[in-house]
Amino acid sequence: MTTVLDKPFDLILFGGTGDLSLRKLLPSMYRAFMEDEIPQGSRILVCSRKQKDFDNTLSIIETAFKKFMLKDEFCAKSFKQFAKYIQPAMVDVADYQKGWGKFVTFFEGRESIPRIFYLAIIPSIYGDCCENLDRANLVTDDSRVVVEKPIGYDQNSAEAINQKIANHFKEEQIYRIDHYLGKETVQNLLALRFSNSLFEQFWDSKSIDHIQISINEQVGLEGRAEFYDGAGAMRDMVQNHLLQLLGLVAMESPNKMGADNIRTEKIKVLQALRPITGDDVKKYTVRGQYVAGNVEEKLEPGYLEELGSGTSQTETFVAIRANIDNWRWAQVPFYLRTGKRLKRRSAEIVIQFKNVSHNAFDADAGQLVPNRLIIQLQPEERMQLLLMAKDMTQLKTVLKPVKLDLNFTESSSGFKSFGYKRLLLDAIAGNASLFIHRDEGSAAWQWVDPIIDYWKENNVVPDLYRAGSWGPNESDELLAADKREWIDIEK
Ligand code: BG6
Repeated sequence: MTTVLDKPFDLILFGGTGDLSLRKLLPSMYRAFMEDEIPQGSRILVCSRKQKDFDNTLSIIETAFKKFMLKDEFCAKSFKQFAKYIQPAMVDVADYQKGWGKFVTFFEGRESIPRIFYLAIIPSIYGDCCENLDRANLVTDDSRVVVEKPIGYDQNSAEAINQKIANHFKEEQIYRIDHYLGKETVQNLLALRFSNSLFEQFWDSKSIDHIQISINEQVGLEGRAEFYDGAGAMRDMVQNHLLQLLGLVAMESPNKMGADNIRTEKIKVLQALRPITGDDVKKYTVRGQYVAGNVEEKLEPGYLEELGSGTSQTETFVAIRANIDNWRWAQVPFYLRTGKRLKRRSAEIVIQFKNVSHNAFDADAGQLVPNRLIIQLQPEERMQLLLMAKDMTQLKTVLKPVKLDLNFTESSSGFKSFGYKRLLLDAIAGNASLFIHRDEGSAAWQWVDPIIDYWKENNVVPDLYRAGSWGPNESDELLAADKREWIDIEK
């Protein structure tokens, strides 16, 4: 599914000297350049609003590359060549009086070249930026706008932002990024599910006992205290990344792998999520906050200390038991979990199959362990299938679990997963399959909003957990109540 760019483009990075551009977007374009994927005649307009940034654009980028790129990735000679594609621009996205007159002239004679406007700026000025682009007559039929999460704070604010963008761009021109969809294993999930009859037959409540989806992080606030404290793990991770993964795991087969077909199926899943409201919120959700503890033998401060405020009740951990009310998934719980400062960095989907319906082996053959499929996204990208087999070292029949291990990092030569690069090239090429439709975001908010509201209205205080643990005890109790437990895939 590699995107091939076959004609020149203009990529316009608003917020071009900001963190996202310097850490992810420009390095992605550099990688594309190194792999000869940028057509001649293309341009990357790096926009900033400060004179100092404008004057030093190239050296700012070079310094950032040296700092943020992988070891041995940066090459001074290649950077010089790459720099030829970069055009610095000074414009204030929110104020038409500042810089737009000159900015417009950059596009003269390039009306037929696709324009990709990437808004690496705060969402509150997405609307102003789109309005100014329109006012400057820069939005052509072959233009797209790429926006980042968080789009809004709840359903209403998300709708308001979406509407402002929609006043100037058609839905098919709007590319909402969820960088999890750029991860190679996530796309591989579609390949796995829809090209193997094995899984076609067994992907439902008849064969599957339950599904766990976890995104565990070791990092804390990473200098984003203000944003994070206003958002919390539910808005930062569950509303988007976790529900996107859930959508891909649970959706029906699209009749074609086109953007609209895939998104339509994901929307159906999100709409079929059973609402968790009233006192069920207490029963089926856990919110936690970390206190100081050791992560990999290093003492890390608690959330409140990192924040510098003694009172915040923002959650840094969420666990949820979700259900999808449709035929395929009736009675199959989906356990979702995410948290900061946890024991290990790992993101995975665990499909726990049911046990065989009858155990014909003698008791001394050992216990049967039900099959399990593990799709790991981080830190390595791999899939594992746990099967039962005979222990070959013994004459008598003793059964033991064995793993079929598919490690993509090792097996695909040269494979490196750079989610942003993939998504950027897709947006440039006009392939929207891996981007979020407005209705998907809306369905996700509809599901998370009542949970957040309940927590707020009922003053649900986060359960504390030690940094370096797997979250609060209540998270284990959530599964224990169903006689299950979180699966540690390293065991
Ligand atoms: C971002 C969140 O969307 O995803 C961050 O805002 C989080 O809080 C990050 O750390 C995790 O992404 P990844 O790819 O490092 O797992």
